[in-house]
Amino acid sequence: YLLNNIWEKIDSEEDLTKEELCCLLSLEDPEQLELLYQKADKIRKKYVGDEVHLRGLIEFSNYCRNNCHYCGIRRDNKKIKRYRMEIDEILNTAILASHMGYKTVVLQSGEDMYYTTDKLVELIKLIKSNADVAITLSIGERSYDDYVRFFEAGADRYLMRFETSNPELYAKLHPDSSFENRMNILKWLKQIGYQTGSGIMIGLPGQSIEDLAQDILKFKELDLDMIGVGPYICHQDTPLAGNPNGTVEMTLKVIALTRIVTKNTHIPATTALATLRPADGREKALQAGANVIMPNVSPVKYREFYELYPNKICIRENAKQCNSCIKRRIFSIGRTISKGYGHSLKKKMDN
Ligand code: SAM
Ligand code: FES
Repeated sequence: YLLNNIWEKIDSEEDLTKEELCCLLSLEDPEQLELLYQKADKIRKKYVGDEVHLRGLIEFSNYCRNNCHYCGIRRDNKKIKRYRMEIDEILNTAILASHMGYKTVVLQSGEDMYYTTDKLVELIKLIKSNADVAITLSIGERSYDDYVRFFEAGADRYLMRFETSNPELYAKLHPDSSFENRMNILKWLKQIGYQTGSGIMIGLPGQSIEDLAQDILKFKELDLDMIGVGPYICHQDTPLAGNPNGTVEMTLKVIALTRIVTKNTHIPATTALATLRPADGREKALQAGANVIMPNVSPVKYREFYELYPNKICIRENAKQCNSCIKRRIFSIGRTISKGYGHSLKKKMDN
């Protein structure tokens, strides 16, 4: 029986084919899903252990020059109030994050050219000389030279999701960027020396099971250090208004298979997943292959405006509240919190 063969292949850590991934992505029987999550959890434990790495997320600007069809902070959304944090405010937030014990800060924003290369270089150097943290950038598409300068200034990691490995679907959703360029940038980032993260959304309108299987194979082909998988959540003030959200179940299946296929990568339990299932979405992800959480440390006064999708969690909480909330959740499932930087497990680094 086909499925039994696949379970055996997973147990002996053989490569899965696209067809086998499609078969697993189509599982619906609760007992079989439980088995899939268990197998992913076992591989997670073997390759990355019980420690959960916390990354303090600073959403420093919601200005964006792009018009991605799914995104609530797209350029043409005139309904949201735009904000920018100044360099000293971002620095102070990073220092606060390090005082809370986070050994990584993630600087994320729309594609906002207000932050010139020089400004960002200055910010990276300031953070590095005032706080003992690794820096992850998530600021979209820039030039090769910019990426080199950020890296030389001290940025350690870069996150840029390819969103979908289906080039036609990518083109439909992204009027301002090309799939080819995204893929080239991911190659550059690795060449330059960044620990490189990418990822996808689950449930994009028009996305098929085959697309998701291909996405998972793409993660492996790109040899990524970090992989973010979150549900698409429909935003009313975008061209995709009225479409259904991605599901928690499909997101968990993709997280589990991403762990099974890529073994020693860092995989976050995403905020989008927790938004669809506030009660236990993150715990479920951590028990289906994930090993990272990115607690929000953005100043409370800005949080509601970084509205990529509606009903985002942690809008009224502050950094301290999110910190204790997340710690409680991690301990509740018997996991521990890493005290190290949580660098890539694919490079020889002092963690
Ligand atoms: N501008 C940078 C970039 O594009 O890489 C970083 C910020 S961007 C808002 C971060 C991620 O948010 C995107 O890669 C996308 O996957 C996710 N996102 C945007 N809109 C979303 C939605 N409606 N539902 C779920 N995730 C969304
Ligand atoms: Fe922010 Fe739980 S993580 S309130």
